[in-house]
Amino acid sequence: MRLTKEEQEMLDGGLGDAARESMEILVALGKIYGAERMIPVTSVQVSGVSYKTIGQAGLEYLADLAEKGARTRVQTFLNPAGMDREQWKEMRIPADFAEKQIQVLDAYSRMGITKTCTCAPYFIGIRPKKGEHVAWAESSAVAFANSVLGARTNREGGPSALAAAICGVTPCYGLHLDENRVASLIVDVKCELKGVADFGALGSAVGKLVKTKYPAFRGIKSATEEQLKVLGASMAATGSVPLFFIEKITPEWNVAKDAERITIGAAELDAERKAIDSGLKPDLVTIGCPHASLKEIKEVAELVAKRKPTCEFWVCTSRKMKEEADRLGYSRAISAAGGRVVADTCMVVCPLERMGYSVTGTNSGKAAAYLPNLCKQNVAFGDLEDILYR
Ligand code: F3S
Repeated sequence: MRLTKEEQEMLDGGLGDAARESMEILVALGKIYGAERMIPVTSVQVSGVSYKTIGQAGLEYLADLAEKGARTRVQTFLNPAGMDREQWKEMRIPADFAEKQIQVLDAYSRMGITKTCTCAPYFIGIRPKKGEHVAWAESSAVAFANSVLGARTNREGGPSALAAAICGVTPCYGLHLDENRVASLIVDVKCELKGVADFGALGSAVGKLVKTKYPAFRGIKSATEEQLKVLGASMAATGSVPLFFIEKITPEWNVAKDAERITIGAAELDAERKAIDSGLKPDLVTIGCPHASLKEIKEVAELVAKRKPTCEFWVCTSRKMKEEADRLGYSRAISAAGGRVVADTCMVVCPLERMGYSVTGTNSGKAAAYLPNLCKQNVAFGDLEDILYR
């Protein structure tokens, strides 16, 4: 790889051990993927934040890096942690877990990383422009950044994202190069998508069929950002999809001439919804995968104010969004109906399996894909009006 003078200096250890170790990771990655050079990034999203996913070894790695003087060079922010930093006791998060989670967050803080703890940074003002290069790590945020915003990012792992934050660059390969941003699977959607759960089921179904291809959708007449985030998240969970196009909706539309075609109609959508729904009544409903926007929180507040849900429920979001929801009275309406606006974490990365729940409701294909294995939950999948009042 061709390195700039400063990149070479980092690799040689002239800028400290943390920068040297980080540049070693980036150069190794660049060699594996055939990158010719590094490319500067404007922001980095670091994953590997929940103590549940990184464990003791991860915590020690982070503490060691912070100790060696690792400091970020670009705007860097965090994916969700394993608990709400303020409400963890009320949520019955085990104290031993909370203690470790606080240590993880402290290590990241010492490196200069903002504790946004969200998988939807684009709802709190972190919105890279079309063509802007970033290094984001959370799969749904990567899909959103590439597909909905038209930014350029590979799906980074925890260590490679952190290395990019410390060095300010990432190896230039994959989705950073225009020639690789081409769909080779056309998905003809021949049914109406009525709400978030339909977008979740569509993403879940297509993710299972897509293999290594990027999909390009035709036939979707309109979609809100909330629906697009769920579509991308669901495909990222069932198919590791980092980029998709929707005709006349996404800022890019590049389809290979020899692209394969599949059709998803009402029968396929219905079959996917049935496949991921256990049909059970949930003991907890979780809304906000990826993290809820203010508009979604408002919709839930209005819905539950009219009729109280028959089970406990959470609306997962970022701290910044929760503060807005508190200010506007949405959080109060949700608490009055037996729910809770939960910040910093989500149903999948918190230790749900230790908190006494066994059936969790969701309208997201991503949460539906992860809840059984990562949280030992049965899944109740459906529209909010269904799962909240089942
Ligand atoms: Fe975000 Fe958790 Fe879903 S990290 S995308 S809310 S599984």
